[in-house]
Formats: sequence, structure tokens, C-alpha cells
Amino acid sequence: MRIRVLGTAAGGGLPQWNCGCAECTAARHGGHARSQDCLAVSGDGRAWYLVNASPDLRTQLLAAPELAPAPGTRDTPLRGVLLTSGELDHTLGLLTLREASGLTVHATAPVRHALHHAFPVGPLLAAYTGADRTGAANTGADWHTVTPGKPVELEGGLRAEAFALGGKRPRYAAHLPDHGDWVTGYRFTEDGTGACAVYAPGLAEWTPALDGAVAGADVVLLDGTFATAEELAERTGGARRSPGMGHLAVQDSLPHLARRPGPRYLYTHLNNTNPLAGRTPPEVTAAGAEVARDGLLIELP
Ligand code: MLT
Ligand code: MN
Ligand code: ZN
Repeated sequence: MRIRVLGTAAGGGLPQWNCGCAECTAARHGGHARSQDCLAVSGDGRAWYLVNASPDLRTQLLAAPELAPAPGTRDTPLRGVLLTSGELDHTLGLLTLREASGLTVHATAPVRHALHHAFPVGPLLAAYTGADRTGAANTGADWHTVTPGKPVELEGGLRAEAFALGGKRPRYAAHLPDHGDWVTGYRFTEDGTGACAVYAPGLAEWTPALDGAVAGADVVLLDGTFATAEELAERTGGARRSPGMGHLAVQDSLPHLARRPGPRYLYTHLNNTNPLAGRTPPEVTAAGAEVARDGLLIELP
């Protein structure tokens, strides 16, 4: 299995275009910018799947050599997209894929619904994507409903199993029912080697389902949006605490890592208020965890 970490920042990226906070200013001057959270994964190194489609997708794809099309063709190694949520920072990049001659998108039922109504990227893509050779007709993307606990067989000997992480809706979908699988993680397993990776960039709390997913995994990429629950309020003067925003702070997930030793743990989806984006503190290193960086390649086993 190969994983290319395409982006590691939360919505807005680092620096965020309209932010002059200390972290964004340091990123502007120090060059340690981060693009928005996105991953590419492959079982055989030939068929690749995106997990989420960030607003920075075009630049991210161009920076990943394994995602280049075969010379002289439009034969892309990209076979499809799996979504962990319907959040804009995970879905705006779908529009960037509109030139695709075929596009498969995997999403849970509420996310799939939201992406056809509240944020109608599905119908929009249908006008551009999947053109036949004459260009006369577009078939649109091929949408598949993801159900937690029901594995999906992907090309290249890769299996993806979603696990439920809660009902936090995107703000644009606030009028839609708040039950159901708005947020999921994925457990990827490679046939043959049994290599296993877990990706959970949005985590409101550490649940038994997550415990089950990380058991026996080789690598786990986790929600690192905020370093502490109070970070956002302290930095912005607002009242919002991270748990209510669907993000378990790193400080509060570290003790769970100690309970579940074994996997290589990396934090991703870092908000631009998060000091971990610039410097990994000793308590993270002491827990055996890392902060992921854009472009990181993970090869398993
Ligand atoms: C989130 O991760 O909580 C969302 O992407 C926030 C947002 O940008 O609206
Ligand atoms: Mn986000
Ligand atoms: Zn900032």
C-alpha cells in the first residue's frame, strides 16, 4: 500500500488568505505553508484513490508524480474519490476533477444527498464529466453510497471500510437532518500483504468504532485540527470550543494513543491557529506521534 499525503491543513489552509495571525504570518515568511487536507491511496501503486477532494487539489495532483497521466494519453491513475464528509474543504476539489472522462465518487447517504441538493456539485459535474469520445454527451460522475461497516472493494487489491464518526453537518447543510453518517473515517486494507491504514481527519470524540478501526493498523492519520480545546477561543477571542466543532483536540486524543500502541500515528487537518503546524511539541513526540506534512509518502509494509 502507498499513501501520498497531499494536504495537511484544515479549511482555509496555512496561511489562510485573510489571516494575519502569528501562525499565518510565520507560514507566509517561513515557507512552511500547508495545503488543505487530502490523501491519495493505492494498493498496487498503479490504481490510486483520492480520499477527499480539497480546494487545493489541482496543485496537489501536479505535485504527486504517481498521479500523472501516462505520456501522450488522458489515462490517469486516479480511479475514484472517497469522501469522509461533505465539508467544503473536502469537496470543493470535486469541481477541479470535472474534466475526468470517468469519475467514481463514494460518499455516505447524507453526504451524497447534500452534494446533489444543498451543494449541488453532483448535478454540476454531470454537465462536464464523463464525456463520450465525440464530446456529445456527458454521463457525469458515478456515485456510490458508502455504508459504515460494509467494505468496498477497490481496484489494485485495496479494500476500504468506512466507520462512523458522527452527525456533524457542514454549515451549508444546517437545514438537513442531523442524524446519520455525516462524518466517517476509512480503514484501508491491502489484499495479500494485509497492510492497513486508517484515516480520520474529523473526530468529535474517541469512540469504540475508532478503537476498533485502529486495532491492528500500521498507520493512523488523525484529526489534528486544534492542539487544545480552548485554542480557537484563545486565538480568535470567540467562544467556540473545539469539541462542539467536531474536532477532538490533540491534547485530548494523545491519551488514547497510549492505550492503543502499535500503529504509526500522524496528525493531519491542522487549523491555521494550531501551533503544531509549525513545531511538534515534546508531548506529541513522547507519545510516539508525528505531525504529517504535505507531500509525505508512506509505503506499507
Ligand atoms: C471542519 O473541518 O470543521 C470544517 O471543514 C470547517 C469549515 O471549514 O467549515
Ligand atoms: Mn475541515
Ligand atoms: Zn491565521
